[in-house]
Amino acid sequence: MEIIDLRSDTVTLPTPTMREAIYHAELGDDVYGEDPTTIRLEKMAGERVGKEAALLVPSGTMGNLVCGLTHCARGEEVILGNQSHMFLNEAGGMSALGGIQPHIVPNQPDGTMRLEDIEAAIRGDNIHFPRTRLICLENTHNRCNGSPLTSEYIDSVAALARHHGLSVHLDGARIFNAAVALGVNVKELTRSIDSLIFCLSKGLSAPVGSIVCGSREFINEARRNRKVLGGGMRQTGVIAAAGTIALEQMVDRLAEDHMNARRLAEGIAQISGLSIDLTGIHTNIIYFDLVSDRLTADELITRLRKKGIRLLHVRPSRFRMVTHHGIHSEDIDAVLLALGEVMESNTPSGTVKAAASRT
Ligand SMILES: Cc1ncc(COP(=O)(O)O)c(C=O)c1O
Repeated sequence: MEIIDLRSDTVTLPTPTMREAIYHAELGDDVYGEDPTTIRLEKMAGERVGKEAALLVPSGTMGNLVCGLTHCARGEEVILGNQSHMFLNEAGGMSALGGIQPHIVPNQPDGTMRLEDIEAAIRGDNIHFPRTRLICLENTHNRCNGSPLTSEYIDSVAALARHHGLSVHLDGARIFNAAVALGVNVKELTRSIDSLIFCLSKGLSAPVGSIVCGSREFINEARRNRKVLGGGMRQTGVIAAAGTIALEQMVDRLAEDHMNARRLAEGIAQISGLSIDLTGIHTNIIYFDLVSDRLTADELITRLRKKGIRLLHVRPSRFRMVTHHGIHSEDIDAVLLALGEVMESNTPSGTVKAAASRT
């Protein structure tokens, strides 16, 4: 049976061109700064997002943590959204390993935080308070329907940060999805921030790797923090070779994933017993709710699984689907057909079990 896996864009596999590039990659020891393929990728990545320097890290989670450690000292505070990946899904790494305290502010449905909420969270100068050091944004915003943040919004947060002497970090795991959805050069989305990460291994289909970008001075310090975390790797050219193809060949096609997500969402909106807000769907992530007592969430998942369709169960009756490379228009038709059949079947309902929260 053919599997249509919509749990995440992290399930994408390297393309044949990436496998070929991995095979032929020129290699050296990257901890000694001698891996030519990694050096080339880091240069290309920094230029692409308009930053002086870049650093390859194994994962987005490590990239965000490296940036947190580079910006903040122990006991300092980071302002971030209450729905952000860094707050919810990175195992509390910044506090566990960096002694950095999160100060959460509500995320609006479009992934923004209100400027007045951010400003209210900035600590005054008082020996009782932790020092605020950093504001973190997420673009696209995973939990908020994969919403893209606009350059105007990002610039306004950065202006507020400057006014208070703070830095801004962007969790741009899917920053290229944002740029493609908004129809802008990615540099517009990164011009006013101090550091960012983006992932090579999500919609861009590389098997491993994320990139940290910032000023040369920032990246020198980040390189040290990556080493602290055990993220100094040796012949990283095998990762960087695929990452280079990801940047060169896989960005523009993200538009196809966005179109597929839109069509999927519009189809779900027609299925009785399912509820979806179409207004917030601009990229490759959609969330929908089961609003029928004809079947339980577990039954929905199990029946789709039997038809070869996988999705993510995020809350008792909420689900996520993510479109990506390898998911074609016909797959969207197949998923909609299967969902319609599953929702039409009439079975006794049971208890909706709490979902394990995954990313
Ligand atoms: C918005 C966001 N940031 C960071 C990450 C972490 O990336 P990784 O899985 O490479 O650690 C993810 C992973 O899904 C994500 O969605």
